[in-house]
Amino acid sequence: MVVSIRLPQYNESSTRRTRRSTLWRLWTRYKKGWIIGVVLFVELVRFLLVFSRDDDARGQWADKYVEGEESENLGWGEENLGREVRGVKRLVIVTCHAIWVGGIDGKNETEWMIEDFQTGEVDIYVRHIKAGVEAASEDAESLLVFSGGETKSAAGPLSEAESYYRLAHALHLFTPALLPRTTTEIHARDSYQNLVFSIARFHELTNTYPSSITLISHAFKEPRFLRNHLRAISYPEDKFQFIGIDPEEGVGDAVLKGEARTRQVWDGDLYGCKSEGELRRKRQGRNPGRRWDGGYGVSCPELGELLAYCPSDGVSEFGGELPWSESV
Ligand SMILES: *[C@@H]1O[C@H](CO)[C@@H](O)[C@H](O)[C@H]1NC(C)=O
Repeated sequence: MVVSIRLPQYNESSTRRTRRSTLWRLWTRYKKGWIIGVVLFVELVRFLLVFSRDDDARGQWADKYVEGEESENLGWGEENLGREVRGVKRLVIVTCHAIWVGGIDGKNETEWMIEDFQTGEVDIYVRHIKAGVEAASEDAESLLVFSGGETKSAAGPLSEAESYYRLAHALHLFTPALLPRTTTEIHARDSYQNLVFSIARFHELTNTYPSSITLISHAFKEPRFLRNHLRAISYPEDKFQFIGIDPEEGVGDAVLKGEARTRQVWDGDLYGCKSEGELRRKRQGRNPGRRWDGGYGVSCPELGELLAYCPSDGVSEFGGELPWSESV
């Protein structure tokens, strides 16, 4: 009797086949898992590489900045600015007093956002706009600036200056010749800032400072501009023209008394910055949108010291050099 026993034979090729098919089974069964795993791994490596490179770049940037190298490329965005406005010398400022929220022609008070004490006054704002457009139209070498910030939360993020500009447009006041010489200054929150910030805005556009200024406001505010604000920045009075427009029927005693009081406050706080001062509080109250006006100190380095200047006694005049100092 022959008993044949089949012993399992060691067979190399079959083992390899088995191993291969095991791998194959693993691959086919977990194909998705494998792919996800590999992708995740690659992404992790990539992330680590990019992250470390960014870190390097930041380090270099900081070093260069500290050393002041390549400051023209690491500066404040000059390379992103449009072309300078050329050939203008005179600055024409329209000081804004309220916000035109839209409508037909600005004559109806319901088109405006005004304070109680401004009731019955809106036609004066329209006349201020017209006077500014006229002054700028007469002088082809002038720049027209509407100046006034986002002073009212109820108007949302709309500045007085932009609203005046839009009203001027609605009134068809612009000619193609004047439009390129027109801009807004959207940070000023009082008359001193109307003057100084508009000068800064002039410099932003032209890279020069105005050789003369025409400012349009209420006639009864003229002493404030001449005696307080011009003096504060030592701007030569003979290069300054004031166009004052009050209501035809004149202003009442209450308004004049109020202005006399306001001027007294400016007398003791020439730059409107005294801590705990009334003027500073007003500025804060007129900035619900928390707009920062510090940019002017960067765009106008020649004004940087003046813009940061705040004498503790309130009345010591700024003694530093200013672009118009020579001509005094
Ligand atoms: C002003 O506008 C309001 C609302 O549109 C209107 O009721 C009113 O009659 C207008 N006033 C004048 C003087 O036109």
